[in-house]
This record gives sequence, structure tokens and C-alpha cells, in this order.
Amino acid sequence: MRTPLPSDSHGEMRAMTSATTIPTPATTTTTPAPVTSPTTAPAAPTRVLAGVTGLGFYVPEKRLRNADFEKMVDTTDAWIVERTGIRERRQVAEGEATSDLAVAAARKALAQANLAAEDVDLIIVGTVTPDHYFPSTACMVQNKLGCWKAGAFDIGAACSGFIYALSVGQKFVESGSHRNVLVIGADALTTLTDYEDRNTCILFGDGAGAAILQPSLGGERTVIGTYLAAKGDNEVIVVPAGGTAKPTSQATLDAREHYLHLDGREVFRFATSTMRELVAKAVADHGYDLDDIGLIIPHQVNQRIIDAAVKKLGIETERVYVNIDRYGNTAGASLPIALAEAEARGQLVPGKLVVLCAFGAGLTWGYALLRW
Ligand code: UT7
Repeated sequence: MRTPLPSDSHGEMRAMTSATTIPTPATTTTTPAPVTSPTTAPAAPTRVLAGVTGLGFYVPEKRLRNADFEKMVDTTDAWIVERTGIRERRQVAEGEATSDLAVAAARKALAQANLAAEDVDLIIVGTVTPDHYFPSTACMVQNKLGCWKAGAFDIGAACSGFIYALSVGQKFVESGSHRNVLVIGADALTTLTDYEDRNTCILFGDGAGAAILQPSLGGERTVIGTYLAAKGDNEVIVVPAGGTAKPTSQATLDAREHYLHLDGREVFRFATSTMRELVAKAVADHGYDLDDIGLIIPHQVNQRIIDAAVKKLGIETERVYVNIDRYGNTAGASLPIALAEAEARGQLVPGKLVVLCAFGAGLTWGYALLRW
């Protein structure tokens, strides 16, 4: 029997939403802390926030257009556009791994932040399509980029992966323990997609987005707060086999249990209400209102889900960023691709709020509130 889907407060794991007070940077810094003269009076503690100093994204070359699916399964371009808003999505080439997507996005973010790879001191990758069980994809990224001083680890939160990774990176920067944190959302869900299942195969695409977080004293391009939530459920969205719960066997292969399975209608209901609640919560938690929002960047899951949530919020569609028509659902990459693309297109309004919100397998959900 299916467990009930979460309400707004259920399973809440409240993240720290305000910056901590940090007198001086601690360990693992790449820039030495300023030396204070013994005669100088003690300085007032400085409030450090996580600043977003670089953004970048990458999608693979190969396009899968709706017409391609008409040859694979019983579907039509018209059905896909009307029910999802998707027109095309990208697919990794043979031999192209999640870390390759992540590295391509990270190079762009590093360039924008004017930061050398060897100065990165932490790499966090949100992914559910890792290169391997182990080593982590973050370690592959570290090696490919040459971030020799960086610690590296993955976070598995599916479509909420970037929010989770950003939230963790934010805490490392705010604590003063790390100064140059590379946060990535990267997934290649087409590698888990059953191209004989018309219910799922049309939905997913591949890509990666990256952000550089560095200490900031506030103002523009900062992370104001994040919120993470979860409610364990392995029925709504799951890859049934290939893990320890059901190791690979000929039977699991024959049953196509290594592919992503989902209850689309259930996700549809969950995602519509969750998106609306997350946006309202993001501004209310920090004393703002919906008018302060410059841009909402929702997880690119389905145009109809986004439209329904936006309508209930009473927000104009001009303040909502959508690129699902070109990339489909790229899971953990969805938000950082949209954020980097929105910035490149000049759609982030300086001084205004940006709300990122995500929901997905786990179930997991959460928001990140930024000031741009
Ligand atoms: O990020 C988390 C993962 N993402 C999701 O879980 C996606 C969320 N869910 C959705 O986006 C939508 O539920 C879908 C796009 C997956 C499905 O749209 P829907 O409007 O909820 O359709 P439905 O599942 O209610 O199915 C309606 C009909 C069914 O036929 P019958 O039973 O009414 O005869 C389906 O078999 O549409 C049929 N159908 C299709 N027909 C043509 C399902 N997929 C297709 C297809 N082409 N690709």
C-alpha cells in the first residue's frame, strides 16, 4: 500500500537559514587571513554569507526530438508537447559520463569566478547517475579538473540534488572552513531510461550546471537561505534493481528493473502543491513577500505543473524561468542549468530575489533563496 505523500510540514528538516558570525577564516584557506596589528582594537565580527561568484552549464550535443520518440514508442509530438511542454532533450554520447558533463559546466563557472582549479577547496556533486558506485563522481571531477587541494563528495537527492548540494556548500562557506566551494548538479538520466516505456522515456534529458561559492559580506549574488525536506518512499520514483536491496541478476535485467520507474500522476499531484508551498515559504521564512521576487526558477519537471503552481501563487509567467521545452527534465542539473542560462540571458534582476525550488525522488524537496 502506498504511504501518503507529504504535507508541507511533514518530514521537515529545517536547514540553517541565516548566516553565522565568523570572526576569522579557519582552516583550509587558500588566501591568508589579514594579519591584525596587536595595537589595533578588536574588530567587530564579520557576518559572512556564501556569495555566488561563478555559474556555468553544459548539455551534450546530441538532441532527442519528439519526432524521434514517434519511431520508438506509441506517442506523438503533439501529445508530448501538450502534456509536458517538452520539444527536445539532450543525450550523452557513448562513453560520456556524468563527470564529463560536470567538468564542462565547472570550467565555465571557474572562468566566470576567475578562479583556478587548484584553488578550489571543496567539490560537492548532486547526482543520482554517478559514473560508478565508487569512486564518487565528485572525485572524478576533482581529478579531471586538477583540484588537488579539494575534498570531494556526492549528494544523492535526485531532482533536489542541487538544492541539497548548494545548502551544504553554503554552510561550509558560512562557517569559514572553506573559501572556494564548487557546487555541481549533474545527471545523465537517459542512461536509466527505458526507451520501451512511453510513460517515462519522453521526459528525461542529460546535462550539468555548476556554481562557485565564496565568502561574501552580503549584498548582491548571495545565498540568503536554504530549506531541505524529505520523506522516504521507494514506490513513487525508483530504480528498483541494481542496488543492495535487489542486486543485479538475470531476472532483474529481464524484468527491466534497472530502469527508472515512476508513478507520474502521483508525482504530478505532489509536485504541483510542493512547488507552490516552497515559493511561498521561501519568501515568508525571510520576511519578504512575493513582490520581492525577481525570478522563480522551478525544477523543470512539466510545463503543466509549473503553470498550475504559478497560477495558484498569482505570479506572472514573466517572473518564472522555463527551459523544459529544450532540455526536458535533467534531474539534479535542472536548476543550475536554468540559473546559469537565466543569468547569461540577463534575466536575473540585480538586487531582486531569486527562488530556486525542487522536488523529486526520495521523496526530497527544498528551496534556495538568493539575492541577485
Ligand atoms: O522529476 C520527477 C520525475 N518526473 C515525473 O514524475 C513527471 C511528473 N508527471 C508528469 O509529468 C505527467 O504525469 C506525465 C507527463 C508523466 C503523464 O501525463 P498525464 O497527463 O499525467 O498522463 P497520464 O499518466 O494520466 O496518462 C494519460 C494517458 C494514458 O492513457 P489511458 O490510460 O488514458 O488510455 C497513458 O497511457 O496518456 C497515455 N500516455 C501517453 N500517450 C502518448 C502516457 N504516456 C504517453 C505518451 N504518449 N508518451
